[in-house]
Amino acid sequence: MRKIKVFDTTLRDGEQSPGCSMNLSEKLEMARQLDALGVDVIEAGFAIASPEDFKSVEAISKTVERCKVASLARCTQGDIDAAWNAVKGAKYPRIHVFLATSDIHMEFKLKMSREQVLESITKHVSYAKSFCEDIEFSAEDASRSDRDFLVKCCETAINAGATVLNIPDTVGYSTPMEMFELISYLRENTKGIENVDISCHCHDDLGMGVANSLACLQAGATQVECTINGIGERAGNASLEEIVMALKTRREYYQMECGVDTHQIYKSSKLLSSITGVPVSPSKSIVGANAFAHESGIHQHGVLANALTYEIMKSTDVGIPENTMVLGKHSGKHALRDRLSQLGYELTKEQLDDVFNRFKALADKKKSLTDSDIEALALSNTHGVSETYELVSHMVTTGTDTPNVATIKIKKGDELIEEVAMGTGPIDAAYKAIDRITGLDIFLDNFRLNAVTDGEDAMGEAVVKLKAGKNLYTGCGLSTDIIESSIRAYVNGINKIVGGI
Ligand code: KIV
Ligand code: ZN
Repeated sequence: MRKIKVFDTTLRDGEQSPGCSMNLSEKLEMARQLDALGVDVIEAGFAIASPEDFKSVEAISKTVERCKVASLARCTQGDIDAAWNAVKGAKYPRIHVFLATSDIHMEFKLKMSREQVLESITKHVSYAKSFCEDIEFSAEDASRSDRDFLVKCCETAINAGATVLNIPDTVGYSTPMEMFELISYLRENTKGIENVDISCHCHDDLGMGVANSLACLQAGATQVECTINGIGERAGNASLEEIVMALKTRREYYQMECGVDTHQIYKSSKLLSSITGVPVSPSKSIVGANAFAHESGIHQHGVLANALTYEIMKSTDVGIPENTMVLGKHSGKHALRDRLSQLGYELTKEQLDDVFNRFKALADKKKSLTDSDIEALALSNTHGVSETYELVSHMVTTGTDTPNVATIKIKKGDELIEEVAMGTGPIDAAYKAIDRITGLDIFLDNFRLNAVTDGEDAMGEAVVKLKAGKNLYTGCGLSTDIIESSIRAYVNGINKIVGGI
């Protein structure tokens, strides 16, 4: 079995996708989960991009113990300085330098000749090497680059000290066969390539990101770059869970393995979608809600007779809990704690108290709480956020011929404040009333509402991203009433702004 290295770029390429921005504490939480998942490298961000990005890369570097931590840098000394300063506190730091090598990028974006690109690779890879032993060089748009020039770029990077050569299909244009041939060609023609890791980084514009990545591995690539839930620029990056489960499920065929603990996949996926508020499509392979559901009678009959008739993987292998015991309003804290632990959530006493209080409030409205409800409660953990503003009540009127008016009552310390506002919709009206109460200057960057479960009494989970100054805060709200969950999410976000969380 060949051992493959998994390079996770959820916090860099993934975070670049619309609606997926994360703040420092969210990135740290995700990084800890990626460490538990067992990836080999975490690309923690692009340190030069902003002071917030720098701080996140720095904090992740100091937190993560087991895996390597990389920061991206363009071929400029400023970028490399920032990347190094951000990762130097890591146990295993890596600087990831990139430069485009395709004619179209060099002519129109970089306005550089081939010679200038080669010079820049030598200069900047050596510069990065003066700080750090582990240097990855990416030839951006490699798959559309002239092959012999790409070979020269790779040799130049190796000579300057690169330890990993990344061959991205930046625009998701290639086919599996082409990627196989490209990696094979580079292996046959690049001097010194046998001494470095060959990495692949495939985007999913034509839906072939995972197939292309697997083809690269088959051609001899030793590292694969991917993201949780396949998030990333445009159509996303190759999805980690699909690559890892393809290698595991088709182990005999691929003859490769990696260090990912597949039992942590589901939790990683859930955590990411709860942090970003971006739901996973129900039909998404491996982690979608329907990925292991058998709806048709023929399938159900087959699975009952012998699971292997329609099941190629076990849901428990990706960490989806088997027991679907339902909890209700008579369930106690022990039952909740046990269930949470089976779902992979080990909470502190204070966190458990917080989840239990919200569990009880929800169980009053909803007859039975499923695993999805319980997970949503655990993931929207409000523990540690002090409730400067506490929602007391809300009332909204809305309709086709009625103005949208919201009355919000909020407690701040001993003071009870009530405001009324009109808006373009009931939620807009409620948010305007809350803004009047707080007097804060905040911008609603993103708003999402997802149903946690099916059915009449399904819980609605609202996630808002609020911008206060340059900082981004995430607020979550859960309720069987979607207007209430939207209001709660807004108030939760505001409490985080006020508390600086
Ligand atoms: O897609 C790409 O080419 C990239 C590089 C910066 C590695 O993300
Ligand atoms: Zn990319």
